[in-house]
Amino acid sequence: MHIVVIGGAGYIGSHVTRCLLDADHSVTVFDNLSSGLRENLFPEAEFVHGDISHPLELREVLAGSSATGDRPADAVIHLAAAKAAGESMRNPEKYSTANLTGTINVLNAMSAVGVGRLVFSSSAAVYGEPTYLPLDEVHPTSPINYYGFTKLEIERILGWYERLRSIRFAALRYFNAAGYDPDGRIGGLEQNPANLLPIIMEVAVGARSELEIFGDDYGTPDGTCVRDYVHVTDLAEGHRAALEWIDEHDESLTVNLGSGEGVSVAEMVDMSRSVTGRTIPSRVAGRRPGDPAELVATAERARRILGWTAAHSSAQELVATSWRAYQSAYGSARES
Ligand code: UFG
Repeated sequence: MHIVVIGGAGYIGSHVTRCLLDADHSVTVFDNLSSGLRENLFPEAEFVHGDISHPLELREVLAGSSATGDRPADAVIHLAAAKAAGESMRNPEKYSTANLTGTINVLNAMSAVGVGRLVFSSSAAVYGEPTYLPLDEVHPTSPINYYGFTKLEIERILGWYERLRSIRFAALRYFNAAGYDPDGRIGGLEQNPANLLPIIMEVAVGARSELEIFGDDYGTPDGTCVRDYVHVTDLAEGHRAALEWIDEHDESLTVNLGSGEGVSVAEMVDMSRSVTGRTIPSRVAGRRPGDPAELVATAERARRILGWTAAHSSAQELVATSWRAYQSAYGSARES
C-alpha cells in the first residue's frame, strides 16, 4: 500500500513510518515540523513539508500531485495533533484547531480525493476517570480534559464519515507511549517533554536537575499514580496491523493499545535508576490536576482481532531503549 503518514516526523509517527517501511509499504511523510524533526525522516520515505490547516496541501499529497509526491494514497495514518492534556484545559482553542479542525480537513481531503482507509491516533483519555479496571473498549467514555474530548469527538465524526463516505477507520486508543526503537534507528528526541519517562531520562543525562513526582498519596500500593506504558514500537506495529485489517475486511475498528500492566511512578523511577546506574534525584511535589490514580488497559480486543500483543513493553525494555536513545543523543553526558 502507499500510505501518507501525517505527523510522520514526530515521536510516534517516525516509529510508525519505520515499521511500515520494514513491512515493504511505500510511505509519504506529511509533516509541518512544528514538533516533528528532520532527523526522524528516512531516505526510503518521501517527505512533504505541509500543514493539515491547508486543505489544498492535503488534497495534493493524497492525490500524489504535490511538488515531490507522485503516487496517490491508498491510506492515511493521521498522527498530527496537540497532545498535552493539561495544556488543553488552559488553551482549548489550540486543541480545537489542531485536533478537531485539522482532522476534519484530513477527512474532507480523503473524501475529495477518494481515499478510503484511515488509522487515527485516539487516546485512553477518551475514558476519563475509570469506573472499573482494566479499561476495555466498552467502558463509558467521559473525558475529564479537553484533549480527551477532542479525541472522542473525532471518533464520533469518523463514524459519520464511515456511514456517509465509506471511509473505513481504525481508532487506536493509546495508553502511555514510551521507549525508543530497540535497534536505535530513531534518534530525534522529543523537545520539551511533559511525559514521565523522557523527563526521567533528561534527569539521568544531567539535562534537568531533578524529577518532580506528582503526588505520593494516591490509593495505590506505593501512593504514586499507576499507568499502562506501551512501547512505541508495539504501538507502531499496532498501526500496521490495524491498517492491514481494515483494508482486508473493509470494516472499521476501535481498539485499546496498552500493555495490560500497571507501573507506578515510583516503580518507573526505580527501574530507571537500576538500568542507567544514575542517581536520578527526585522529590515529591503536589498532585497534578486531572491525574487519575490508575489507568490500565485490557488489549484483549486487539489481541483477538489483530493478533497484536505488547511484546516490547516491559518497564525494563521501555527504560533501556529510552536510555540508549538519550545516551546517544547526549553523547558522553555525565551525571552532574
Ligand atoms: N509524572 C510525574 N512527574 C512528571 C511527569 C509525570 O510524576 O514530571 C506522573 C504523572 O503525574 C502521571 C504519570 O507520571 O501519574 C504519567 O504521566 P504522563 O504525563 O507521562 O502521562 P499521562 O498519563 O498524564 O498521559 C499520557 C499521555 C496522554 C494520554 C494518556 C493515556 O500524555 O496523551 O497518557 O493514558 F492520553
